[in-house]
Amino acid sequence: MIRLSVNVDHVATLREARGGREPDPVTAALICELAGADGITVHLRLDRRHIKERDLYLLRKLLKTELNLEMAVTEEMLKIALDVKPDQCTLVPERPEELTTEGGLDIVRHREAVKEAVRRLHEAGIKVSIFVEPNEEQIRMAKEVGADRIELNTKNYSEAPPKRRGEELERLRRAAELAGKLGLEVNAGHGLNVQNLPPIAKLPNLREVSIGHSIISRAIFIGLEKAVKEILEILHR
Ligand code: PXP
Repeated sequence: MIRLSVNVDHVATLREARGGREPDPVTAALICELAGADGITVHLRLDRRHIKERDLYLLRKLLKTELNLEMAVTEEMLKIALDVKPDQCTLVPERPEELTTEGGLDIVRHREAVKEAVRRLHEAGIKVSIFVEPNEEQIRMAKEVGADRIELNTKNYSEAPPKRRGEELERLRRAAELAGKLGLEVNAGHGLNVQNLPPIAKLPNLREVSIGHSIISRAIFIGLEKAVKEILEILHR
């Protein structure tokens, strides 16, 4: 069964809009777990614009499912990850001005730093996934630097106009197939929602999807529990 990890960053974004204590992303995470989510994802950004250390440490203590930490490959983030010991770290690129993660990590360019990060995280017993474009060279490099998993960036697919969507899906399908052949597990995420998820759920070797924005957005109107359950219903078909 394909797993769902819910990204609760945007609950923290709303909290930070007033600088107070609510809504609490930790409460949101516990509701997602009760609704059947298989894990929780947070991105501790370098500027701490939404998730804070406090959230990460509380989640580590309270979650019964998997905690996935999205992080840039920096010494600061590595130290935090090695201390918190999430179940999985997903290495992502980070640009301070970006609204959200803009693309996959260029592992070819940052090969040595990524390899060393994977080695240190593995030493602490943490599974490592790398957020990548559906590109053969990057996927082969993910294997070479020792990653356990890749997370395929579904941004281009989710934003493609209907006539280009098939092409983007095919690119993801080929990437997922290659990853499977190389012995990498496959996660996918970015821009997924109830409308565009069904074809993604049929990708070969897919282990987990990570969904944030659409679940939290729909939660405002239909409630968080229902927003999680309607995604699970698609994944479990
Ligand atoms: N995966 C990665 C690596 C991301 O950076 C994000 C966005 O934070 C997501 C998945 C989730 O994307 P969305 O919020 O569009 O569902």
